[in-house]
Amino acid sequence: MKKIIIIGATSGIGYEIAMRYAAQGNQVGITGRRTDFLEEIQQKCPSNIYVKTMDVCKDTATEDLQALITEMGGVDTIFINSGYGKECKELDADTEMQAVATNAMGFTNLIIFSYNYFKTQPKGHIVVTSSVASVRALRQSPAYSATKRYMRHYVDCLAQRARHEKLNIRFTTLIPGFIATDFLEARQNYPLLISLDKACNIIYKAIEKKKRDVYLPFRWNFVVLLWKLIPKWFWERCW
Ligand SMILES: NC(=O)c1ccc[n+]([C@@H]2O[C@H](COP(=O)([O-])OP(=O)(O)OC[C@H]3O[C@@H](n4cnc5c(N)ncnc54)[C@H](OP(=O)(O)O)[C@@H]3O)[C@@H](O)[C@H]2O)c1
Repeated sequence: MKKIIIIGATSGIGYEIAMRYAAQGNQVGITGRRTDFLEEIQQKCPSNIYVKTMDVCKDTATEDLQALITEMGGVDTIFINSGYGKECKELDADTEMQAVATNAMGFTNLIIFSYNYFKTQPKGHIVVTSSVASVRALRQSPAYSATKRYMRHYVDCLAQRARHEKLNIRFTTLIPGFIATDFLEARQNYPLLISLDKACNIIYKAIEKKKRDVYLPFRWNFVVLLWKLIPKWFWERCW
């Protein structure tokens, strides 16, 4: 039986993965800002779902995480899945700063806490949701693209650090393309769009196998390879 905490599990990917783990009798801690959603989800599996209202942008987020860990009597896997990003037609500071607060500052606070927590344990697993938006510059969502890149890079640094410190902490970075959740804006034609169910099949396996970097669906590996071959001067003009 696994003890997993999913930060950002009131809807979409986090919710679906929480339900899968809970259905198999694992102990699952879930967080989000929408307390009513959390309570509703807990009612579905009251014996093994633990909930904590948490805004990752607030300084109290790590206290909330610690409280949830204590309530669960420990944790094996912490999945930092919360994220914010909107298309920014105008370069709007509020939208951009919300992405920075959630995906960079809130994320950093929580991953540092998670790393230091697992440092005191025999082993641990940290899972993070980045995005293919992290691969190249995206003028439509500068802060989202930049912060999702930051997340990946930060995880790479901690993975390197854990090896040098000889800690048994494993890391998984999920790099989704487009998944049919409320996160996507109501416009059509997202390339390589996949269903939430299909995405969560891949994510569940990736967590169980403790894979390192996971593009989903797999075809994004090839797209990203091509993107990386495009010179910056051409990318700036044509994308
Ligand atoms: N769907 C896609 O196509 C796609 C593609 C690439 C990457 N992603 C990434 O996948 C992750 C999950 O997204 P999703 O598609 O499942 O969308 P979603 O249904 O909107 O889920 C986002 C989750 O993050 C939580 N969250 C957002 N801001 C938060 C905050 N300040 N504090 C605490 N929790 C917060 C939300 O909970 P509350 O609102 O209750 O706080 C919600 O549970 C995100 O990191 C997103 O960037 C999604």
